Amino acid sequence: MDHFLYRDGNLFAEDVAIADIAAAVGTPFYVYSSATLLRHFKLFDDALDWTDHLVCFAMKSLSNQAVLKLLGDTGAGMDVVSGGEYARARAAGVPGDRIVFSGVGKTKEEMRMALEGGIRQFNVESEPEMKALSDVASSMGVEAPITIRVNPDVDAKTHAKIATGKSENKFGIPISRGREVYAMAAALPGLKVIGIDVHIGSQLTELEPFGLAYEKVAELTEALRADGHEIKRLDLGGGLGIPYEQGNSRPPLPTEYGALIREKVGHLGCEIEIEPGRLVSGNAGLLVSKVIYVKEGEDREFLILDAAMNDLVRPAMYEAHHDIVPVIEAPIGTEYVPYDIVGPVCESGDTFAKGRQMQPLQDGDLVAFRSAGAYGAVMSSEYNSRPLIPEVLVQGDQFAVIRARPTFDEMINRDTIPEWL
Ligand code: LLP
Repeated sequence: MDHFLYRDGNLFAEDVAIADIAAAVGTPFYVYSSATLLRHFKLFDDALDWTDHLVCFAMKSLSNQAVLKLLGDTGAGMDVVSGGEYARARAAGVPGDRIVFSGVGKTKEEMRMALEGGIRQFNVESEPEMKALSDVASSMGVEAPITIRVNPDVDAKTHAKIATGKSENKFGIPISRGREVYAMAAALPGLKVIGIDVHIGSQLTELEPFGLAYEKVAELTEALRADGHEIKRLDLGGGLGIPYEQGNSRPPLPTEYGALIREKVGHLGCEIEIEPGRLVSGNAGLLVSKVIYVKEGEDREFLILDAAMNDLVRPAMYEAHHDIVPVIEAPIGTEYVPYDIVGPVCESGDTFAKGRQMQPLQDGDLVAFRSAGAYGAVMSSEYNSRPLIPEVLVQGDQFAVIRARPTFDEMINRDTIPEWL
């Protein structure tokens, strides 16, 4: 459930009319609902209340400072994958002991930064990375708390570009080599093994792959304990999917996911961490855009929007579906017409939807892309020299711009011309 509902045919974000934000901020823009973000975070938090746990928001999905502060202030941890994300989490006030550092290519500089600033744990993904971390921590005279990310060779049954738990994927160490690699970690100076990490992919719409992976993690936990390792924490990753097509899919609920975790690993008495991104932020955000032109093609009508693939790349990159709805609804009984919905960028890939049934629209009308809070703004670019679009946060009847649209000058002046030109 989200807090983007119609009142008398007008789309609202909580108690603010989207049309009012558009008038104040200009289009296109992202808008997030605080109540939805907090609600989704709490669903996960409650689903794990049977045990000691920490929900670490995968901030790669949405990393605006205001959003991080909102979630961090309610007790969320953060899952970070770069020095930049670590710095963002800290700047938003999240303490180091609530930050887990994931990612397949952490550099020594990033390791040092996190060890200096405070870190809950590193999720180590390979032997060379383990050795690098051992070097950095030893040279600083500290111990780095680690889990090792195992690759359970499970089919996550999701889009190939976001599946991470098969042996052909670059992530983690093969679970079959788990005991060997943990033995190596235990022998290295500067490392303190505390647990196991696994993450098999994103936008999973069934529980079964999670179950298979978690069973393997439970087996490994027992084997490692028998080998003398202290395994007290399991980081079970993120990946729970959201319903991108309203009415057409019902991915498992966080409560069902929490119950599955309890069933598969509850008996081990470990502290549980999870790293949800999309389910916290996805349905908490809209991308709002304006129709620039309705163009008659040979055999179809194009709705040309002022948002483009540089603002929301998911349809071009993953053939992703986003529901696109009018901000002002036509009267009940209005007949829908099919549109190809496109942006102004100069490539045919800049297509959001083909033959999408919509109420008839015209120049100046506003539309909203649903489920755009996750992997929307964070994946945007200034391709075609289109300035990054603003982000707006709503809470009740208030809204604020939480990232302003740069002016053309601001965008251009990030470049420098060498004096010898
Ligand atoms: N933990 C790790 C180690 C991850 O790699 C990811 C996502 C997550 C947690 C969060 O997964 P989530 O709960 O959001 O599914 N750009 C793509 C999604 C990439 C996901 C990458 N890793 C998209 O737009 O669909």
